[in-house]
Amino acid sequence: MCGIVGYIGNKEALPILVKGLRRLEYRGYDSAGVAVAHGGNIKRVRAVGKIDNLADKLQSEKVPGTFGIAHTRWATHGGVTEENAHPHSDCTGKIIVAHNGIIENYRELQHNLLVGHTFVSKTDTEILAHLIEAFYQDSVKPANTPLPPSEGGMAATGDLRTAVEKALRKVRGTYGLVVMHQDHPDTLIAARLGSPLVIGVGDHEYFVASDTSPMLAYTQQVVFLDDGELAEITPNGFQIYNLHSQRVHKQSEQIDWNESEAEKNGLPHFMLKEIFDQPTVIKDALRGRLVEDDGTAHLGGLNMGEVEMRSVNRVILIACGTASYAAMVGKYAFERLAGIPTEVEVASEFRYRDPILDNHTLVFGISQSGETADTIAALREAKRKGAFVRGVVNVIGSTIARETDGGTYIHAGPEMAVASTKAYTNMIAVLVMYALQFGRLRRVTVATGERLVKAFREISVKMEQALQTSDKVKQIVEKYQGHKNFLFLGRGVNFPVALEGSLKLKEITYIHSEAYPGGEMKHGPIALLSPEFPVVAIMTKNQLYDKMRSNIEEIRARKAPIILIATEGDEAAKELADDVIYVPPTMELLEPIINTIPLQLFAYHMAVLLGKDVDRPRNLAKSVTVE
Ligand code: M6R
Repeated sequence: MCGIVGYIGNKEALPILVKGLRRLEYRGYDSAGVAVAHGGNIKRVRAVGKIDNLADKLQSEKVPGTFGIAHTRWATHGGVTEENAHPHSDCTGKIIVAHNGIIENYRELQHNLLVGHTFVSKTDTEILAHLIEAFYQDSVKPANTPLPPSEGGMAATGDLRTAVEKALRKVRGTYGLVVMHQDHPDTLIAARLGSPLVIGVGDHEYFVASDTSPMLAYTQQVVFLDDGELAEITPNGFQIYNLHSQRVHKQSEQIDWNESEAEKNGLPHFMLKEIFDQPTVIKDALRGRLVEDDGTAHLGGLNMGEVEMRSVNRVILIACGTASYAAMVGKYAFERLAGIPTEVEVASEFRYRDPILDNHTLVFGISQSGETADTIAALREAKRKGAFVRGVVNVIGSTIARETDGGTYIHAGPEMAVASTKAYTNMIAVLVMYALQFGRLRRVTVATGERLVKAFREISVKMEQALQTSDKVKQIVEKYQGHKNFLFLGRGVNFPVALEGSLKLKEITYIHSEAYPGGEMKHGPIALLSPEFPVVAIMTKNQLYDKMRSNIEEIRARKAPIILIATEGDEAAKELADDVIYVPPTMELLEPIINTIPLQLFAYHMAVLLGKDVDRPRNLAKSVTVE
């Protein structure tokens, strides 16, 4: 939540900062701002609303300079106003900060340490600017306690890095932070605790951002800051320290994402592009991981030998939102293929229980961003209790990828739309491959393994076929556009598909929808049904087909309109439903990869028809880095 960009180098900073903010807009879009240093001054421009509003405002402003910071906000403390928009400044206007995270003890600091300072916003962040101001002032005139506001201008003799370090030692909470000072136009300070920050290393130019997307156009050499680290960056290089001024030595690494992956490529929305990316990126998830001859998969990053793998007697899949629905498919796969009892835990619940774990428990954290605060906290708890902890993550170098003892990148490429699509299908692919790998050490025969490997090989083509339903889905959406409620139903592996279809619809259209397992209908939800309450049901040809069919009959008897996702060639579906979307058959465990596609399209076309902001739905941010 919230996106930060910083630039220091030899180019004009403003276009780089604004373009960078557009890349990070998925992290928050309540308000945005930039600050650029030039000729001994800092110009700060902020605007409420999306980046376009800021860009419009900047059209009438001259903001030259080769050094600056920028921020796009998802409000936590303080309403959505220009005063509360970042970057924030200290009393003198010389120290400017942009922050992602929450400073929990900001009131305490304000009342105890910063008496006399003038606060102009209602944010927790502003405290950082004033704390740095106080310690900076202190470094100019030592032994000045309590920490006073600056009087008049400050000399450029202070120690900015140490001032930031001292300030950060006082705060409790989380931060990804960039700091600039008018009198230090060659220095950018960046620090991280709990909110991601990446340094991009160019040729006499450096970038700082919440993720790599703002810098991909300029460099693929990056350094990921770890918690408790602070970087001092100049146009000539950077140095990393801990919060006790000790140097930390880190090498930059090459990332293989490129800028075009983070573009819409001519399509109207990132979400549509990402839905249509799926047949391509699933190949990236599978590449080099399927072993034809042995009918198995091999995910090397697991970092477990066969003895350890055999010692696992319980699997826990921890995730939030869409990732948790991918995890539910993973549960079916682990139990069916490997015979290992598997639980899916919503991270925000897991972290506050006292989970019973031991060294025979394998915990996977599943996350697109790798930065979801609840998932990170839950994984730390699992690690503390001695479980094997592994990640299934998309964003390279993200916190979960770095903190777990192994795991697998899902290789979905940058996912820019807030509503997750391609990450979900790639997560399922990776989890089913893991289940196969464990299953082949236990009870899966080579013949069954080979069939699954073959189904994986065919999945991309079948996803292409599922995408061809787009026009048909659009027609159906036009027919149902006036409805205020939808019910999604599925059974077995298709229950998570129903949950995901319902979440997608809620997220981007704001239409109320519910999702239930088909067999649960008669225990309550059936009371909702009427001709005004359409049902979207997944009734593909698998072992629960007949059961699902009976559930559909029950709905028909209540006269609710029925939209069915059915297997190609299933003529009976037409008899049962008002509308049918046909998808190609595949092995049951892979069905969610195919069957979710028309539901993603359903939500997408509905949102477009209703004129909603598809890529940036209200109240949401892509990466939920606060509790
Ligand atoms: O980055 P993560 O996969 O950890 O994110 C988890 C959820 O916040 C995420 O899936 C959310 O539910 C999406 N907006 C769904 O489209």
